[in-house]
Amino acid sequence: MPYLVYFCTEILINNNMYRTHTCGELRISDVNKQVTLAGWVQRTRKMGGMTFVDLRDRYGITQLVFNEEVDAALCEEANKLGREYVIQITGSVNERFNKNKNLPTGDIEIIVSTLNVLNAAMTPPFTIEDNTDGGDDIRMKYRYLDLRRTTVRKNLELRHKMTIEVRNYLDDHGFIEVETPILIGSTPEGARDFVVPSRMNPGQFYALPQSPQTLKQLLMVAGFDRYFQIAKCFRDEDLRADRQPEFTQIDCEMSFVSQNDVIELFEGMAKHLFKALRGVDLGETPFQRMPWSEAMKYYGSDKPDLRFGMKFVELMDIMKGHGFSVFDNAAYVGGICAEGAASFTRKQIDALTEYVKRPQIGAKGMVYARVDADGNVKSSVDKFYSQEVLQQMKEAFGAKPGDLILILSGEDVMKTRKQLCELRLKVADDLGLRDKNKFALLWVVDFPMFEWSDEENRLMAMHHPFTHPKDEDIPLLDTKPEDVRADAYDMVCNGIEVGGGSIRIHDPKLQAKMFEILGFTPERAQEQFGFLMNAFKFGAPPHGGLAYGLDRWVSIFAGLDSIRDCIAFPKNNNGRDVMLDAPSAIEQKQLDELKLNIIED
Ligand code: AMO
Repeated sequence: MPYLVYFCTEILINNNMYRTHTCGELRISDVNKQVTLAGWVQRTRKMGGMTFVDLRDRYGITQLVFNEEVDAALCEEANKLGREYVIQITGSVNERFNKNKNLPTGDIEIIVSTLNVLNAAMTPPFTIEDNTDGGDDIRMKYRYLDLRRTTVRKNLELRHKMTIEVRNYLDDHGFIEVETPILIGSTPEGARDFVVPSRMNPGQFYALPQSPQTLKQLLMVAGFDRYFQIAKCFRDEDLRADRQPEFTQIDCEMSFVSQNDVIELFEGMAKHLFKALRGVDLGETPFQRMPWSEAMKYYGSDKPDLRFGMKFVELMDIMKGHGFSVFDNAAYVGGICAEGAASFTRKQIDALTEYVKRPQIGAKGMVYARVDADGNVKSSVDKFYSQEVLQQMKEAFGAKPGDLILILSGEDVMKTRKQLCELRLKVADDLGLRDKNKFALLWVVDFPMFEWSDEENRLMAMHHPFTHPKDEDIPLLDTKPEDVRADAYDMVCNGIEVGGGSIRIHDPKLQAKMFEILGFTPERAQEQFGFLMNAFKFGAPPHGGLAYGLDRWVSIFAGLDSIRDCIAFPKNNNGRDVMLDAPSAIEQKQLDELKLNIIED
């Protein structure tokens, strides 16, 4: 009955108090105090007649000492402790002989007089240290052990602090936090819905919100003026490092505002968060606002990474018409200049060519040109171009001796720009230019209102169908809808879209027109969004808003490669929770109640 024995001694020793201090708390000023600590055994070391135990809890690590000469039986108990045992000790604080400068508690140790094992532990499947030996799958299966690691826990602490700062900032600016339901109908954010069958309404389904978009607009009709919510959103889409099927938005909406009002307020929030959580001053000046068309032309992306240069230079005028058929037949010829990269070896350059030729990127090839120490240009297509033309190209880039010019071409302008964007990011990686401690923020504005979908064979809303067109473009809705720009804005940080929003349509007639352009019949628009269009007939204020991606902000602040590392229980790339083994089959009884049949493949 060892547990019973432990239990009794526990009460005896602690007088019902599990601990007097945490494992991160004791300092040199506490020497000679009698203390009780509780926590997990990080590791034990036996050195001669002494046994050292590192005791860990959320707050830190404290060294415990057991001395065979003082209490052989106790020392024997300590030698039996395994990793991750949960123990409680009492003892006195002692100044350490060999101080550990890397630990806040490194000046002291506890000379233990009593030891209770509160719970034994199986050997963990990976080491619970900052640099663990556990692979991704095993860490996710035992996520509760992974979360014991300081590096992972710190990400969640940062997330907690960020939500507090966000709430304080928004409260200071008059926002009210309102919860909106999770079981709702479809919301049009462009992904697939996760759906939930209704037992009480057989054959009918709720959809989980892709965002609280329509509900926050209804709160504006309700006169709430300034709303926010730290909102769970659900999107059934292909996953990437910065995408989870279930993620969190800092979702906001405001009445009687223009684009500028929304941008200023949320720029203020970004500055506040950087100052409060990273100690980084982003300065007083407004962030750059870059029209979408410029972002695509110069960076091939609607989320340009501005931590470094390598802006695209178009070379159609200079490089076409010299007999090099690849360029002569291309609609787009353009490139980037990598400063100081002329020293790249042939092998490195070939690796870049292979990189852009991968099916995911799809370029046919890459042309390169080195600028030598004398300013001469040596290119991989020298035989088609005189030094004079190559010098013109060099001028177009403003290239200097030692620089490397990389050029792509293609028949589809947008596709080639996107390929060049991938090349730009890869070269920046190779040159170490994507510094995680540098932050480049900007707004991308003036998005096109619509984009053509080959799959659907119709125009689709680029943002969502409630986005207001720019006033000056409204007349184009009838004549050239593809040229209409939206009153929409995205915030981008280090090449990641960290937020997006727009001014909304509040006029029911304009909203109806928008649905018409998007191919909705009046009946279908009424069926899907009738609640919103009807609400707008009862006095809707002009309004607009934005949602920041909380997971993305936290991961940028923490310097993470994936948002999964700042989510307590994330899904894997197949959308599975490997710890809970979800999704999973349900019992026939449940299916019957829901009146659902599963069709086997
Ligand atoms: P949007 O779809 O741009 O806008 O989403 C807003 C922000 O949410 C984050 N985000 C994600 N983060 C993690 N995983 C995902 N799957 C994911 N999808 C989006 C991004 C993005 O910028 N209702 C509008 C907002 C508005 O107009 O007010 C909306 O949801 O950081």
